[in-house]
Amino acid sequence: MAKVLLCRVGDLPSGEILRVESDGLPPVAVFNLDGAYFAIDDTCSHGQASLADGEIDGDLVECPFHGGCFEIRTGLPAGAPCTEPVARYDLVVEDDAVYALVQP
Ligand code: FES
Repeated sequence: MAKVLLCRVGDLPSGEILRVESDGLPPVAVFNLDGAYFAIDDTCSHGQASLADGEIDGDLVECPFHGGCFEIRTGLPAGAPCTEPVARYDLVVEDDAVYALVQP
């Protein structure tokens, strides 16, 4: 597995979402839920909305365009009109930085 730097821990306070563009990955939305980090593809599977512009509602993120929801931990759809999942990423936090683990 290769590590792709997503952000520094200090760039993402609890309860916030950060949109990250990295080499080799589509745009990623990184979430901080009470100190635990999660990442899913930023582009909604229903349209071209950025999920990082959405709202966190517990373990869900609500898309800003049509109000569809996804599970932040899994990327699975959790509310209409979204029916297709978005990719999720395994993460590791090292030296105050959040990395995605991806196949090289
Ligand atoms: Fe996200 Fe429609 S673009 S719910």
